[in-house]
Amino acid sequence: MEVLLIGSGGREHAICWSLAKSPRVTKLYCAPGNGGISSIAQLVDIPATDLNNMVNFALENKIDFVVVAPDDPLALGMVDAMEAAGVKAFGPSKDAAKLESSKIYSKSIMSKYNIPTAAYNVFTDMEEAKAYIRDNGAPIVVKADGLALGKGVVVADDVQTAIDAVDMMMGDKKFGDSGSRIVVEEFLTGPEVTVLVFTDGKSVRPMPSSQDYKRAYTGDLGLNTGGMGAISPSPNYTEEIANIAMESIIMPTIKAMENEGVPFKGVLYFGLMLTENGPKVIEYNARFGDPEAQAVLPLLETDLLDIFEAITEQRLGEIEINWRKACSSCVVMASGGYPNAYETGYEIFGLDDIPEEIIAFHAGTKLVGDKYLTNGGRILAITAIADSLQLASQKAYQGVSCVDFENAHFRTDIGELANNG
Ligand code: AMP
Ligand code: GLY
Repeated sequence: MEVLLIGSGGREHAICWSLAKSPRVTKLYCAPGNGGISSIAQLVDIPATDLNNMVNFALENKIDFVVVAPDDPLALGMVDAMEAAGVKAFGPSKDAAKLESSKIYSKSIMSKYNIPTAAYNVFTDMEEAKAYIRDNGAPIVVKADGLALGKGVVVADDVQTAIDAVDMMMGDKKFGDSGSRIVVEEFLTGPEVTVLVFTDGKSVRPMPSSQDYKRAYTGDLGLNTGGMGAISPSPNYTEEIANIAMESIIMPTIKAMENEGVPFKGVLYFGLMLTENGPKVIEYNARFGDPEAQAVLPLLETDLLDIFEAITEQRLGEIEINWRKACSSCVVMASGGYPNAYETGYEIFGLDDIPEEIIAFHAGTKLVGDKYLTNGGRILAITAIADSLQLASQKAYQGVSCVDFENAHFRTDIGELANNG
């Protein structure tokens, strides 16, 4: 089968790497892809959000199966567009992807179906939002309704910060229309866990849990980023908590979407906070997490294409999915300055020195001649697997120590457990 994967980050490299192991994949394309992906897939120079050109490419090249990995094309309806053109595509429909692309929609689903989450209010008026924040005090959380490159959430320790966030989102329109409506919600505390599940809208198969290290610097300091590392499984997600989450959150969400007439087919990401009162949903994403995918997918033993196909054909319940019983640790190497301004174009040295059993997923790289150059905020995601989390992290850092590029930055505490997000 000829497969086209849409996206360009470390997550997409991990998905491509996993798909490339399938004996049924005869040709792999990736649009737009990155330097590392070019070693296993033919890159296609079409932006991930360009629906028309992507559909035309799939038709002209007789692509058998399309996998849509990032949030933007899902929110724009890439899967619907492919299906309308008769091309099989993996991922949720535009309407189901609203679980991620509209926080107001996801909150309304949770509230209608009694799925545990932070108490909240929706505002379309700036002054009303500010008055509510003054009445309720801090800490409090302000969220833009729509997609905002992961920057649409402000966890405010004081009232002024929350009010500034309202001004930034609704007044200055920092995220455009995404911030014209906002959610103001209760501040929750507890360890955070990511639970990715495969679902065809009826059956659910959870993947091993994971944990994202969101802050830029070691010790959970600095700004929130897309994710500076991940481990799997999360030691905080015990079997008991997993059972509670399955019963009170995961199945009810799948059933809710079915009941709403928008069954969710794809990978659904549950960002959970393990509070004193049980697990609660912090956010849904309509896709694999990045860098969670780079930690979780190397543990998968089953053919990923078989799983994707079973989902699109709504027969996930019939197949077996096996995972390696091991731990994995993924350390992200980023450009100095990320998530703020950074420079790119630096040569990456030492990739060939990484021991074979350690995987260097590329996130923001570009192949120029025979050199890999930095080409983004997050550059590499280096993953290792071992019998314990500690050993996996040691091995991942061994991989990191082989690599160098100008102003390289990484956290030194991936695998340590104090992280609360
Ligand atoms: P999100 O972009 O929705 O993942 O939010 C980014 C981060 O903000 C989360 O990973 C949490 O660490 C934090 N956060 C979001 N909502 C809340 C909340 N209600 N209480 C505490 N922290 C939150
Ligand atoms: N790592 C968080 C995300 O993918 O949204």
